[in-house]
Amino acid sequence: MKVQRPRGTNDIWGKEMRHWHQLEDVIRRLARLYQYQEMRTPLFEQTELFLRSVGETTDIVEKEMYTFTDRGDRSLTLRPEGTAGVVRGFVENKLYADGQVQKLYYLGPMFRYENPQAGRSRQFHQFGIEAFGSEDPAIDAEVIALGMHIFRELGLKDVVVQLNSVGDSESRERYQQQLIEFFTPYEDQLAPVDRSRLHRNPMRILDSKEPQVQELLAEAPAMLDYLSKPAAQHFQQVQAYLEKLEIPFVYEPRLVRGLDYYTMTAFEYYVDVPGAQASTIGGGGRYNQLVAEMGGPELPGIGFGLGLERILLACAEQGCLVDEEPTIDCYLVTFDQASRETAVSLLQSLRQAGIRAEMDYQSRKMKAQLKAANRLNARFVAILGEDELQNGAVSLKEMATGEQRQVQLEALVQELKKEQDKTE
Ligand code: HAM
Repeated sequence: MKVQRPRGTNDIWGKEMRHWHQLEDVIRRLARLYQYQEMRTPLFEQTELFLRSVGETTDIVEKEMYTFTDRGDRSLTLRPEGTAGVVRGFVENKLYADGQVQKLYYLGPMFRYENPQAGRSRQFHQFGIEAFGSEDPAIDAEVIALGMHIFRELGLKDVVVQLNSVGDSESRERYQQQLIEFFTPYEDQLAPVDRSRLHRNPMRILDSKEPQVQELLAEAPAMLDYLSKPAAQHFQQVQAYLEKLEIPFVYEPRLVRGLDYYTMTAFEYYVDVPGAQASTIGGGGRYNQLVAEMGGPELPGIGFGLGLERILLACAEQGCLVDEEPTIDCYLVTFDQASRETAVSLLQSLRQAGIRAEMDYQSRKMKAQLKAANRLNARFVAILGEDELQNGAVSLKEMATGEQRQVQLEALVQELKKEQDKTE
């Protein structure tokens, strides 16, 4: 029996891989532009990290984590998201020591045991940013703007920002009380999972996918009415900055996000992708208590995570990534052992000069080699025939025009460099 890849994972290659590279190039360029530095953290962490940050009553922790015991009897978990690891790294490496705002980014695989479908997999990729050390609403707006800048650069249209404030701890305490009062008369109608959350973490019910809750939600109290004065003011300022930056957003009173660490600003990027159920291409918000909860100083944080598979799906839907087929500068056509030996050295000289070149490694006939050159989109072929080599030369043929000329072996690098300069 052939071994297949695990359910909910993907192999990526060819044209699709090239689209990933285009996306990653845009992301890294814009991350640098906005002054974010990359941080790489382990793909697995102590399980406790996610219990304490993401939260024990979330879907991620209750149902979706890949948790295992290693040979040293430690409980470890494949990271289901990036914020927890970066916060741990920020605290553990004392990145707060210089008192500056720290802006970090990451790009890599995350793991959640979910029901696989279009745009939802068990190993998926996120680009995420985290900015530590500022409560300024201007940075909330900047974070949201960076995501929109990436979408614009990719040519992705009609991305909507959904925005809410989940308040500070004072606001939340009052609001949670209201929610408990609101839902208690309907306790019997709640799905078991929501009932179990009613007294432990009632805001989770707002994020419930259960149909019987959806109806109730329309009548549920909104956080906005329970925001403390500073939280309400902060939310106002974030909105004012977004307007200034001309970033369209919609206020979404039920938006609480699926992770427990959020305070104040919470947002999601949404794009309509017919056929794909999941069109939330990213989400984020503030977490002003998380750094302290993870043993660091009292420092606020804010960030987002974008789902790269979902962005690529949306791009495919809108046709915004074009496929640039790879090309090479020169293919070396060989005939016998002697010409192959010459080609091996020539190939090295060409590549060391930055010229993309290839040769045949299957001792094929000339026709097959020319076909291979075509498949690689070679601009030139260099024919290393017996006569040519006796003269210390090759025949250089331009594929598009069929034009052919003799070039001395030692002049080939120069000649191809000149041609390369003409096109680049
Ligand atoms: P999240 O909303 O759980 O937030 O995930 C962010 C994005 O990852 C989602 O909007 C979605 O596009 C993508 N995503 C999530 N699960 C899957 C899946 N199973 N398959 C494909 N894509 C998926 C976070 O993870 C937070 N750490 C974001 C954040 C950073 N907040 C503050 N800083």
